[in-house]
Amino acid sequence: MEHSVAIADQAEKVIARCKRLASITEVPGSTCRTFLSMAMRDCYQEVGEWMEAAGAEVSIDAAGNLRGFYPAAQTVAPRLVLGSHLDTVPDAGAYDGILGVVLAVSLLETLEDRKLPFAIEVIGFSEEEGVRFGMPFIGSRALAGKLDDESLNCKDTNGVTVRSAIENFGLQPAEISKAGMRTDSLAYLEFHIEQGPVLESLGIPLGVVEGIAGQTRGEFIFVGRANHAGTTPMNLRHDAMSAAAEWIIEVERVAKREKGLVATVGRIAVTPNAANVIAGQVRVSLDVRHKSDHVRTCAADFLAIQAQEIVHRRGLKVEHKVLLNQPAVSMDPFLMEQIEQAAAKAGCRTHRMVSGAGHDAMILAEKVPTAMIFLRTPGGISHHPSESVSVEDVAKAIECGMCLLTQLATSVEFQKRMYRA
Ligand code: GLV
Ligand code: MN
Ligand code: MN
Repeated sequence: MEHSVAIADQAEKVIARCKRLASITEVPGSTCRTFLSMAMRDCYQEVGEWMEAAGAEVSIDAAGNLRGFYPAAQTVAPRLVLGSHLDTVPDAGAYDGILGVVLAVSLLETLEDRKLPFAIEVIGFSEEEGVRFGMPFIGSRALAGKLDDESLNCKDTNGVTVRSAIENFGLQPAEISKAGMRTDSLAYLEFHIEQGPVLESLGIPLGVVEGIAGQTRGEFIFVGRANHAGTTPMNLRHDAMSAAAEWIIEVERVAKREKGLVATVGRIAVTPNAANVIAGQVRVSLDVRHKSDHVRTCAADFLAIQAQEIVHRRGLKVEHKVLLNQPAVSMDPFLMEQIEQAAAKAGCRTHRMVSGAGHDAMILAEKVPTAMIFLRTPGGISHHPSESVSVEDVAKAIECGMCLLTQLATSVEFQKRMYRA
């Protein structure tokens, strides 16, 4: 496929657009966009315009995902889904998730209205990070048909449920089933920054993801008794802060004992949160990951038992909610090979790797053949404002993406899948 739009110009444009979206934020001075916030609406407006200008029909589904449909050469045709997420962590960089959406739009632009035997749907997922509700993948779980009532009733720190957040955005939770992945979807493909140091250390611009580590997310609420910090002797306290602190250290100790296991308490909320009051309640998050589901679930179960042991000994109580128990997934071998061939045509070496970070791809892999392409991340820095990516690597990714589209459009094996669809 010839592409007359200069790839280097496209790469510059992709980076400029990611930077532009980083300025659309709910926290002035830093980048933060959570599920269906006002900032998300503004972000959708901008990305929707880019999608439309590239020839896509734009809509927002009932789970708040932004969707752009670029038609195929013929009216009835299956679709290839490209995407990533448009929400961010607090104080985020400009590229985690966003790059995958903007780069997919750039592929549509590079097609310059040429049509393929399959349609292309670009999806900007509404929620991947789990920041607002402690529960990630709201957008992609809707596509996988896994956004159940329990998830919709989950509350943010202001007591707003996922369901209400959807309604407040002007969408209908009752229509979430219509957001489901269509049966004529051939595959899901996601471009994403690596968010780690491996590709940089190897001097390789693009990575081919073989699998994504599973993750457990949960919340623990340590319930003690608030009391006066000056008058309550140490042996008569039920201090939720000390109990939580002991458990947090246990989380670190357990993770360090097992190779490849990572466990994080990244969020803490203390009640009443005053210097001269013993903490009555402490809510903490837990995030546990490993490429083996057995290792991960055993660690998560053990940490729940340890929390019970700690509160029992200290005369407190603990409540525990599992917010996500997502198994590890493998990527599609056929698509991985196709990506490697496409990258080679783009003059680019690749490296196969497992992703420790979670991605929408791990949810969609349960529904359709799925693959991910990683871009080298300078310094391995991510979830941080200094996150970056080079123009050259973005250009390689676009070129690889265009070669991949050409290959898939002419691949006999992919055509067979299309026939089945
Ligand atoms: C997503 O960024 C994750 O937490 O892995
Ligand atoms: Mn991401
Ligand atoms: Mn992230």
